[in-house]
Amino acid sequence: MHGIVRCSQLSKKPDFSALGFQPLAPSYDDDLLLVKGLNWKLLISYNQPFGKRPEQKFGYNNDYTAFIPMNRNNLKEGWLWVNHESTDQLFTLKRQKGDPLNKTQVRSEMHRVGGSLLHIVQKDGSWSVVQNSQHNTRYSALTKIPFAGGVQVKGSKVATGTLANCAGGINPWGTFLTCEENYQDYFGETIHHKDGSTGWAPSANYLQWEKFFKHPPEHYGWVVEVDPRTKKAQKHTSLGRFSHESATVTTADDGTVVVYSGDDKADEYIYKFISDSKNHLEKGTLYVANTIKGHWLPLDREKSPQLKKRFKTQMDVLIRCREAAAILGATPQNRPEDIEILPDSQDVLICLTNNKSKGDFTGEILKIREKNADPKSLEFTSETLLTGGENSGFACPDNMVLDAAGNLWFTTDIAGGSIGKAPYETFGNNALFYVPMKGINAGFAFRVASAPVGAEFTGPSFSPDGSTLFLSVQHPGEKSKSFEEPRSRWPFFKKELPKPSVVTIQGPLLKQLISFG
Ligand code: FEO
Ligand code: CA
Ligand code: CA
Ligand code: CA
Repeated sequence: MHGIVRCSQLSKKPDFSALGFQPLAPSYDDDLLLVKGLNWKLLISYNQPFGKRPEQKFGYNNDYTAFIPMNRNNLKEGWLWVNHESTDQLFTLKRQKGDPLNKTQVRSEMHRVGGSLLHIVQKDGSWSVVQNSQHNTRYSALTKIPFAGGVQVKGSKVATGTLANCAGGINPWGTFLTCEENYQDYFGETIHHKDGSTGWAPSANYLQWEKFFKHPPEHYGWVVEVDPRTKKAQKHTSLGRFSHESATVTTADDGTVVVYSGDDKADEYIYKFISDSKNHLEKGTLYVANTIKGHWLPLDREKSPQLKKRFKTQMDVLIRCREAAAILGATPQNRPEDIEILPDSQDVLICLTNNKSKGDFTGEILKIREKNADPKSLEFTSETLLTGGENSGFACPDNMVLDAAGNLWFTTDIAGGSIGKAPYETFGNNALFYVPMKGINAGFAFRVASAPVGAEFTGPSFSPDGSTLFLSVQHPGEKSKSFEEPRSRWPFFKKELPKPSVVTIQGPLLKQLISFG
């Protein structure tokens, strides 16, 4: 298997002479492997301090990365935002499932999720974190974060903490968006029965934070905006509450801001928010996609009166988006993950990672074409751009980034416990793929990086000049049975436990690939 055949042109083969490099074969090595011509360096690893206060340490399971320069005239210095999606108590607490858990341990875990705002600089080509910079800030599950616009959720204008931060986005006005994904893993979830009664589902995993901290589940599952200049964070209820993978921002011709977001759960939906404004996200309309009819359906009690029977207020609709979307006839998807928008066509690409219950094990990348290429349009067509599987050589696409020439880079997320097992034996460890979008190799996926054992690459993003790819290596050694014998010891090896880390990828081939289109 070469990892290089596109679904729509199975008869056609890639032209390696035009490609100029030899893609990686699938690998099970416990290391970060790159094609010849690329190299990587560690930028920061779990638990590394970057400030003087005890909480100023890099969190666990780094995900989304995004860079904003501090000054437009100097692209070599700026803020790097990094999400921390989750922890692994086997490595952070040396705790096995079933071991006792206390409040002090949970509090330490709460410091390990959220996000890190880092001041980074590039000198002699290499990036580093500026130690003790006043810009370096941690946002954790203990940080007080208000709801935007002064709205109240469950009787409070302020939430304690942000958590489950998966992917995100950047606003045109220079702020970061960080998305709360699997929030139900931390404080459980409120259940709304059809007769109007409510119940509660505890967190399904073994984190059990709710045993020690009684925070309302409704305070999580939102998109959070962080302004790196003021360090202020706010939770936007306008974008709805679900397992937000990402928040991909674009602007319509009239300057209106539009944000696309997927709900990363099997049989959940794709959403878009159309702001009423050019410079904030506080007010607007949230829509959900019916991809069969090609319609965006308003999650709004006035525009969709059939919602009035189930929901007393618009805030109820926003808190319970999944229920409202189902009432409107939205189309269930195979786990919508990251979203990117092609710069030339304005086509919207959406990773659908898999849906095992529906027999989709390897996922696809869906393409939505808005009517008249207008992000504000309420009608669209959709088709599959790339299909995972043995022919294409990849499985479970998750995070994407576009380079300056519009080529697509995406990472895969075969679950830690499924890597190497049926039906994934031929795919090797998770990987980073490069897809030229123009030329003779357009639409073929080429494996350019292979992740350590148990790990997933997440959060790929480019520096503004395109010469560096920031990449998170998340959960190396996931599904280890003991901390004495972890499945991975990446990146420090010897007797060290595995450590999630952000790396920078550079090299002569990167320049060549980015100019390929
Ligand atoms: Fe956190 Fe959907 O990956
Ligand atoms: Ca993801
Ligand atoms: Ca992305
Ligand atoms: Ca994922």
